[in-house]
Amino acid sequence: MQDIRVSFQQLFSSSASLVVQSPGRINLIGEHTDYNNGFVLPAAIDKCVQVAIAKRTDGTIHMHAIDLQESVIVPVIAMQPHATSWVNYIIGVVVQVQKYNTSKSGSNASHEIDKGFDICIQGDIPIGAGLSSSAAVECAVIFALNEMYQLGLTTMQMALMTQQSEHEFAGVKCGIMDMFASLHGKSNQVILLDCGSLQHSYYPLDLKDYQIILFDTQIKHALASSEYNTRRMECEQGVGVLQQKYPSIKTLRDASKQQVEQCLAPKNNDAKNAISDKVYQRCKYVVDEIERVQLAVKDLLAGDIKAFGQKMYETHEGLSKLYEVSCRELDILVNAVKDNPHVLGARMMGGGFGGCTINIIKKSKVQAIIHQVAEVYAQQTAHTLKVHQVKIAQGTHIK
Ligand code: GLA
Repeated sequence: MQDIRVSFQQLFSSSASLVVQSPGRINLIGEHTDYNNGFVLPAAIDKCVQVAIAKRTDGTIHMHAIDLQESVIVPVIAMQPHATSWVNYIIGVVVQVQKYNTSKSGSNASHEIDKGFDICIQGDIPIGAGLSSSAAVECAVIFALNEMYQLGLTTMQMALMTQQSEHEFAGVKCGIMDMFASLHGKSNQVILLDCGSLQHSYYPLDLKDYQIILFDTQIKHALASSEYNTRRMECEQGVGVLQQKYPSIKTLRDASKQQVEQCLAPKNNDAKNAISDKVYQRCKYVVDEIERVQLAVKDLLAGDIKAFGQKMYETHEGLSKLYEVSCRELDILVNAVKDNPHVLGARMMGGGFGGCTINIIKKSKVQAIIHQVAEVYAQQTAHTLKVHQVKIAQGTHIK
């Protein structure tokens, strides 16, 4: 990446007052559990977004995306979702800050953010690969605004506000995982996050002779965000039925496997509830996966990476067959390594319908396996495989 301070100076003929760097994320296990108040096990990575920022005084935001060579200017008051997607990751966050300011001191108070600012962004997180490049932009922006305007937000507040921004300006009803991981990551540590209580703990990731490799399908099917929101609704539908019998169940986190069988399995599901078999399958996957993450963390702590990897394969099976968020390309990549004794685990990662698989591969075999998977992928699809080797890195910080 270029020196973003130099780019800022060239673009705006003034100096940036602040540069913030925010990482993408991987997730070892715990997929589609965050918005069901379950557990996830993500980590921030050494691919990131940088923003450089400085105040203006004329009530406008001047934005420039260095990699895309695009500039957009908008007035800072009464902002609405924009036709250009990267713009929404900036202005959506500004709107959350404006709401926060109003909630603290009323709508008539004047706030410095309403005078506007200059911002440029750049990054090396592959877009659409399921590594949360959009969350990284949102987190970099809120961190920079918090610093520049001395808002006094905690990183937890920042995670919740950027999640809300994604809901309102990007239209994806995402969970908290991506923003949380980007803001709270630590080098060489994975984060076990309880998405219900938001309590979290860090664990060193010791994979011994193995390493993480991401295989990138290089595709993103268009239905990704609409299907994502549908999955969320299906889970809520399931909870609605479970609640009739067990009123204390507020999310799938509160439901046991037995309760899911009893209330949602097709043979037990009476006409009154009329939920589809799909709703049962979705809820079954989520409840299994929430349990699986907790068992997988025990494997990690016991140093049993083999058992951990096996659970990653089980997650993929569930995501593909029950939750139906995989796709042909992702399944090809997992199948290509499944019987290889040097690959302990593999699964699709993130929301699905494209993006990457995450694999735990024996270090000495990495090159040979990359070669073999690339060949299979080229033979069976019209796409070229891309490979990312990532390290676990620090969360959002000032550069
Ligand atoms: C996307 C969302 C996350 C999470 C994952 C699936 O990355 O942004 O909140 O739900 O999908 O685990």
